[in-house]
Amino acid sequence: MDLFSSIDIEPARKRMIELTQAIERYNYEYYMNDKSLISDYEFDKLLRELIDLERQYPELAMPNSPTKRVGGEINKTFRQVTHRFPMLSLGNTYSIEEIEDFEARTRKLLGDQPFTYTCELKYDGVAIGLTYRHGQLVQAVTRGNGSVGDDITSNARTIATVPLKLYGDYPDDFEARGEVVFPFTDFEAFNRQREMDGEEPFANPRNAASGSLKLQDSSECAKRKLMFCMYFMMLPADEKSGERSIENPALTSQLSTHYGRLQLAMKMGFHVQPYIKVCRNIDEIRAFIDYWDNERWNLPFAIDGIVIKVNEVALWNSLGLTAKSPRWAIAYKFKAQQVSTLLESVSFQVGRTGIITPVANMSPVWLGGTTVRRATLVNADFIEKMGICEGDYLLVEKGGEIIPKVVGVDVKKRRPEAKPVKYITNCPECGAALVRADGEAGHYCPNSDGCPPQIVGRLEHFVSRKAMNIDNLGSERLEMLYRKGLVGDVADLYSLTREQLVGLESYDVDGQRRTSIQDKGADNILSAIEKSKAVPFERVLYALGIRYVGEVGAKKLARYFRNIDAVMSASVEELASVEDVGEKTAKFIYEYFHDERHVLLVERLRKAGLVFVSDEIKISNVLQGKTFVVSGVFENFSRDEIKADIEKHGGKVSGSVSSKTDYLLAGEKMGPEKLKKAEKLGVRIISENDYLALLE
Ligand code: IVH
Repeated sequence: MDLFSSIDIEPARKRMIELTQAIERYNYEYYMNDKSLISDYEFDKLLRELIDLERQYPELAMPNSPTKRVGGEINKTFRQVTHRFPMLSLGNTYSIEEIEDFEARTRKLLGDQPFTYTCELKYDGVAIGLTYRHGQLVQAVTRGNGSVGDDITSNARTIATVPLKLYGDYPDDFEARGEVVFPFTDFEAFNRQREMDGEEPFANPRNAASGSLKLQDSSECAKRKLMFCMYFMMLPADEKSGERSIENPALTSQLSTHYGRLQLAMKMGFHVQPYIKVCRNIDEIRAFIDYWDNERWNLPFAIDGIVIKVNEVALWNSLGLTAKSPRWAIAYKFKAQQVSTLLESVSFQVGRTGIITPVANMSPVWLGGTTVRRATLVNADFIEKMGICEGDYLLVEKGGEIIPKVVGVDVKKRRPEAKPVKYITNCPECGAALVRADGEAGHYCPNSDGCPPQIVGRLEHFVSRKAMNIDNLGSERLEMLYRKGLVGDVADLYSLTREQLVGLESYDVDGQRRTSIQDKGADNILSAIEKSKAVPFERVLYALGIRYVGEVGAKKLARYFRNIDAVMSASVEELASVEDVGEKTAKFIYEYFHDERHVLLVERLRKAGLVFVSDEIKISNVLQGKTFVVSGVFENFSRDEIKADIEKHGGKVSGSVSSKTDYLLAGEKMGPEKLKKAEKLGVRIISENDYLALLE
């Protein structure tokens, strides 16, 4: 029986096609022609409408709909896929002589056949292969071991530079290969946010890109601004020796060279870096390498070398393969740049969660395009393992990444009397004895309520955009409020008065005024604080700054527990059963809420009027306009859960049967009165299974 036969699907289908075409046209103009035809707001409105329609009519949603950029699909595990064409690696070398040998060997093997080379950047990211059929993306797979990789299609679809549909002329069946990179600025912002959330930052953009592609929730991948740089087009004909049957004759000449293929790919909508050059001889290759060895620091993403390929595709088969790499290409890898510089002092920083980070303060030195003065010494184990002594010369390196790394000690320059760097035993800010938890490499300051950088750090986190979003309170103002004794914890923000704020000033050690608050500033601060009282529960939970509870974890917790009391009384096991909350995080949450001080803090915030109950989190609109009455006992849900579930799908729940009731959802041992009334009014009576079928 079609329960929703009254809803006509045709107008929806028509509107979805209209929306898809409009969005795709705006995307085309924006990405291909650099033209914004509508405002972001209008664009988002169209996208939102399409998302809503797809939720309502999932059977009409297209696999490459522009909404896929937003993500939302969940992968519990990633399907293993055998590559249709193995993803070979490249022979690589750090020596320019070996590049000269490669060039001479290639010339010899090809005899008098005319040919050229291409030189291009070697991206330092994660290799993936994208299969396109009839201009549509059908699959994205990681390189894996070269023969078998993971199917990461739903995550790849969220990357703006992965075309979902192609433009212009394209071969009907091919694989686009390239590297997923995490541009430096986006990576740094992302890592900073992780640190704010008390999460371990990623060591480099490559690791972060790789971790992102393996995220279970594709909407999380969508938030990390990854970039796909295409570097290779593989056609089925390439595998078959001598056979060059390309189905579209118009493309034959362009497809006959690697350079032509990448130019064509650009017109199809791929992101291909323009830094590719056709070279005729070793001098031109050398010049390209030399240029990029210096210039690489000015790129917005990491590269770790240069790839040199024979440009003419027809010659690839005659050059053949070695065990795992083609003979027609080679990679030159840049050496990491290294300098030796004096360690002037070691300082110790205290993070928001109390974690101590030792930092090397060094004589300024020019390295890879920037002046380096400071570098992390990670933790006590790192200092010990490196054997770092006071007054040592440190070896600092910059590889493909932007962050300089201490890789060792220049022992030749060590003074005989040098003493090992002493790790502190007390917090440099508050003097509390440091603690090192079992199995953890880092020390931390346990005095969370009395250690200034921890208090100010927590305030900063609380007011940040993704948390309570209280504008006009930057770190300087927060520090001032703390130092003047007006704010000792986040709950104090809610009792600030205009009189307390107006006229506040703070000064640097050298007498320069850092910040001040005047009449208008005070009003703005107070209204932002007032506005924050409407921030939804999931963000309030995140704002509390519980260690390892990031934005995603807080969202999942809020969705599962629905109110703060349920979170506070949950066991470690129950907390750990929530998606994206691990055992370690669960323990921190449990400990946090079993600390009397935090129970009091929550009470004060509750009194101040913050939201500690989840508002309805809509999953779909399938039950839109339908009213249910729920009665009896159910197999898969408690009564409250099934009611909440109805609301999450857009339906309404009422306490008693009336003529407005659409369904009586009947469990075991349901109330006889309700049944009688429903029968009398002709209200449809459905079982738990019927209900589940409705949702599908
Ligand atoms: S061509 C058969 N070009 O380097 C040719 N590879 O071992 C296949 N890489 O992980 C590769 N930039 O993902 C090619 N411009 C580029 C590249 C590139 C980075 C990566 C590739 C693979 C490794 C080669």
